[in-house]
This record gives sequence, C-alpha cells and structure tokens, in this order.
Amino acid sequence: MRNILITGGAGFIGSHLVRHFVERYPDCRIVNLDKLTYAGNPANLSDVETRPNYAFVKGDICDYDLVCRTIRDNEIDGIVNLAAESHVDRSILDPFVFARTNVMGTLSLLQAARDCWHGEWQGKMFYHVSTDEVYGALPLDGGKFDESTRYDPHSPYSASKASSDHFVRAYHDTYGMPTLISNCSNNYGAYQFPEKLIPLTINNIRHRRAIPVYGRGENVRDWLHVEDHARAIDAILHRGRAGETYNIGGNNECSNIDLVRMLIAAADRLLGRAEGESLSLITFVEDRAGHDLRYAIDSSKLQRELGWRPSITFAEGIERTVRWYLDNEAWIDSVTSGDYMRYYEEVYGRRDRSI
Ligand code: NAD
Ligand code: DAU
Repeated sequence: MRNILITGGAGFIGSHLVRHFVERYPDCRIVNLDKLTYAGNPANLSDVETRPNYAFVKGDICDYDLVCRTIRDNEIDGIVNLAAESHVDRSILDPFVFARTNVMGTLSLLQAARDCWHGEWQGKMFYHVSTDEVYGALPLDGGKFDESTRYDPHSPYSASKASSDHFVRAYHDTYGMPTLISNCSNNYGAYQFPEKLIPLTINNIRHRRAIPVYGRGENVRDWLHVEDHARAIDAILHRGRAGETYNIGGNNECSNIDLVRMLIAAADRLLGRAEGESLSLITFVEDRAGHDLRYAIDSSKLQRELGWRPSITFAEGIERTVRWYLDNEAWIDSVTSGDYMRYYEEVYGRRDRSI
C-alpha cells in the first residue's frame, strides 16, 4: 500500500497509529482525515506534522463528497477507520451523535471507497477498528471473547460500533470489498482524553480531587498499551486475510478499584507524596447505567496467524503512562481548560460544539 487514509487520526489511538505509520513507512503517504471534535487534538501529532509523508485533512467521515475527493486526490489504496464517538458515558447522554458518526459515518466511508475503487479490489483494503464491547459482558468467574462470540452490545456506544461492524461485513460479502475488522480491548497510554478512567484518575490525583469509581469498582477491563494496539493494526493491515476479524487484547485483566490503587501508588511515589496518601480521594459513585461487568479478549488467532503479541507489560506501561501525564502538564491543562479548542479553531475554523 502506498497511500493510506487514517480517519480519526487526531484522537488517542489514531495519533499513535499515525505516528507509527509515518515513522515506519517513510515511502508511504499517510493522510489523516479528522473532524476535530472535542476528542481530536492536532497537538497529539505535533512531532510528525511537518513530515513530508504526512497530510492532514479536516473533515467529517459523514461528508461523502469530501471523502471521495480525499480518496481520489491522494490515490488512497488503504483506509483505516478509527473516527468515532468513543466514550460510553457520552453515548448514554446523547446516543444520536454516536449513530451518526459511528454508523452513518462508517457507511459513508464504505460507499465512498466502493465508488472510488470501482470494484478494482486488487491492492485495496478497508480496515475498520472496532471494540470488544460489541460482544457484551462476561461473568467475573470466567470466559473470554473470541472472534466467534455472538454480538450482544449493551450501551448506545457499543450498539453503534456493532452496527458499523455489520455494515463492513456486508460490504465484503455483498460487493467483494476487501475488508478487515479488529475488536480491541481497553487501551491506555499517552494522549488519551481525560474523560477516560486512567487519565482522569491521574489528573485528579495531581489536583487532589475526588476519584470517581463507579459502583463498587469490581468491573474488570482487559488493558492493552496503545503502542501495542498500533503494532497489531499494522500487522493486520499488511498481513491479515481479507474478510477476517481479529481480536486484540492484552491478556491483562484488572478490576477498576485495583487499577485505581495501582495508579495512586505510582503517582504518589512520582509526586513525592507519602505512600497511599491519595487513597482517601477514592469516592464510590452511582454506577454507570448498563455497566458491563467484565471484558476479556482471546487474541490467540492474531498471535497464531500473524505472530503479534503485546510487548509492554502492565507494570511498565502504567509507570510510563503515569509519568507521561505528570510530565506533560501543559498538554493536560490545555485539554481540561479547553484552550486546545480555541487555538485550533483559529487555525482550522470553528468546531462543532454540539458534541
Ligand atoms: P477518541 O475519541 O480519542 O478519538 C476519536 C477521533 O475521531 C477524534 O480525533 C475525533 O475528532 C475523530 N472524529 C469523531 N467523529 C468524527 C467524524 N464524524 N469524522 C471524522 N473524525 C471524527 O477515540 P479513541 O479512543 O482513539 O478510539 C479510536 C477508535 O478505536 C474508535 O473507533 C473506538 O471505537 C476504537 N476503540 C477504542 C478503544 C479504547 O480503549 N480507546 C478500544 C477499542 C477500540
Ligand atoms: O473495551 C474497549 C473500550 O474501552 C473502547 O471501545 C471505548 O472507546 C473506551 O472508552 C473504553 O470503554 P470503557 O467504558 O471501558 O472505558 P472508561 O475509561 O470510560 O471506563 C473504564 C472502566 O472504569 C469502566 O468500567 C467504567 C469505569 N469508570 C470510568 C470512569 C470514566 C469509573 O469507575 N469511573 C470513571 O470516572
């Protein structure tokens, strides 16, 4: 593939993926199409924005004409779709925007690719980045999601992602479009928007603010460092079998309360505070509606077929992540204050504030 379109590349995972591709494939042109919603921040890519093989297009994946122009002008042969509304709590408050971007946006992207590629599928690939949440929830005492697990989404977010996955499969089965889907577990690392559990907790420890833990904190997530996710997407895009689905996970389950305690231990040490000083910030709050109890991913297909495995241990990844948020106060302060929006509105125009 010579020219790859990554959508949602100014967000958390997308920015790591763009950086990975720009650096690893200097002969490949990486075009990042991003609407710059509240979750998109070009500062996440300030270190690669002047590279000759990188281009940014501000735009919406729902904008069929713009997507077609972008595909044609850049002779795009690979599309990796990460653009999405990604936060479960927001989906409970406003499901419509999730249907619009995650379902209709993916559909508009699929149709644009189909129309621009004219059924000449050789050398083309449409890769859709999805989530383990489409599979629903597991009991605490066992089981893992594999690629044959029945879809059973519970939140408006996971329902919208499930729907988009079905459209991608439909384009493969109906039109013969070469497609790939990966369903990944919870990511963590630098540049994650501080509405998500890990950056929110670290920032609240820093400011000695309450750390909200939903319910009793017993819910379990399977954590994967975002750089390992980027490496998995690279392996799947270049070596995955068209029409297939690959589960990606860290084999790294942790309850929310244990995770929060790990973050406190690391942050208190790095901030020079007494051991356990921030434990008093833990505040149990009302549970998330429809809160999935446990996720766990069986990624043996990906490991067996493509030789990928996670390379960053949880202990190492958490240490690096806590250190990054504490060392990058300017980034997190500009995001929490909203300054990042005002600055980029001057450069790229007004943001859609409805989201
Ligand atoms: P994010 O919210 O940090 O970033 C989403 C990006 O998409 C932002 O840059 C935003 O501006 C952009 N965007 C939103 N709507 C758009 C639209 N209509 N047109 C163009 N761009 C738009 O999300 P993330 O956590 O980086 O997740 C990226 C993808 O990976 C999503 O599809 C998500 O479902 C999936 N995923 C996330 C995780 C996770 O743990 N974060 C795990 C598995 C899968
Ligand atoms: O599993 C993959 C999914 O992981 C992705 O598809 C989503 O895009 C991503 O947001 C993430 O979803 P979660 O809902 O698991 O992530 P979040 O960080 O919002 O919450 C992690 C867990 O922590 C979850 O059980 C809810 C809980 N939580 C979350 C927040 C924000 C709290 O207890 N307190 C909080 O303040």
